[in-house]
Amino acid sequence: MVKTMKNNKEEFLFRDRPAFPIEVVNSDGSYLIDKNGKKYLDFVMGWCVGNAGWKKQEIINRIKKFDGPEYVAPTYLYERWEILAEKIVKLMPDHRSCFRATGGTEANEIALKMSRAYNKRKKFIAFQNAYHGQSIACHSLVRMPHHEEHFGKFSDDYIQIKAGEWEKTTEETVKLIKTETISAFISEPLICNLGVVIPPKEFFDAVTEVCKETDTLFICDEVATGFGRTGKWFGLEHFSLNPDIITIAKGFSSGYGAIGATVAKTDVAEAMRFEFSNYSTYGWHPLAVETALSNIDYLMKNNLILQSEKSGKYMMDKISEFCEVEGKGLCIGIKEENPGTETRCRDAGLIISALEGKLVLFPALDVSKTDMDKGLQILKENI
Ligand SMILES: Cc1ncc(COP(=O)(O)O)c(C=O)c1O
Repeated sequence: MVKTMKNNKEEFLFRDRPAFPIEVVNSDGSYLIDKNGKKYLDFVMGWCVGNAGWKKQEIINRIKKFDGPEYVAPTYLYERWEILAEKIVKLMPDHRSCFRATGGTEANEIALKMSRAYNKRKKFIAFQNAYHGQSIACHSLVRMPHHEEHFGKFSDDYIQIKAGEWEKTTEETVKLIKTETISAFISEPLICNLGVVIPPKEFFDAVTEVCKETDTLFICDEVATGFGRTGKWFGLEHFSLNPDIITIAKGFSSGYGAIGATVAKTDVAEAMRFEFSNYSTYGWHPLAVETALSNIDYLMKNNLILQSEKSGKYMMDKISEFCEVEGKGLCIGIKEENPGTETRCRDAGLIISALEGKLVLFPALDVSKTDMDKGLQILKENI
């Protein structure tokens, strides 16, 4: 247990908006525990982070037993890096190379740089108001109007398309890519950050085909959807995609360490073989590497990818009795009619998230039937 703050006051920490009124002092399985000992059923898990569930002793014990170097600088050989890279690549289509990162933003930055180095074009296409991270480039990709107001106008090299009206969007995207001026198209396979929007397979098929024809890259952001969140190891499997670059973080360690990666087809990765194209001081820190290895082994051993698929079906069937719902596995979006549901649920002990007129649920992959039923009852009573 950690110490609690006096009167919930933060004196030295900056925030862009007020904190949720829960002072977290511990976590356990699918629960967060506040300073008064109140337990909250966590159906967000740090936004697709805690896929394995919190406080898994098997993962924690492996990390505690680690007796390797405190730090290895990126320029050295370190066997655990190769072991982890091989493990990831074997979960994905095609032969690939991994680039070390500390999280999702950095992983996407590497992907954008690599793409420019590969085809020497500058433009990118992304979904408006989606999310790929906090850097200037990642903000530019999705161009939220209030960001331009504060950060200055973003470059026209970043082009946005709209999720929805799929026939029109497909046509527009294909037309843009056909100009042979686009370096890459970037998207989540299921767009969590728009409230879990699932683009139709025809959209991805058309974009993949025109990307191939024009040597444009397809970057698949699996930062939120990876590692079993959607009932598959990666969301791309739902559409049989073979993206040129795949980015991962979050569920990569299930929150036990800070780690991300950019995983590119080997010929695409070759474009980065020039002096100082990439360097990350803390990318794949030895302890973070152990968290990722332990987490992947834990997900495999406990069959949690399959469990995510089954539990997702169970939850979505139940939710459809009282609401419109869309999702795959435990990546669930619900059409929200009444604002305030998130707060009412939190007061009743359930953590969910509201955005874009939707509610999203990202429970732990091993969430029990009792907890699914309990959470959905709270949701039904408060929606
Ligand atoms: C789809 C997606 N990409 C990238 C990021 C950025 O990841 P990080 O916060 O690790 O930089 C996020 C974070 O929420 C995300 O959801």
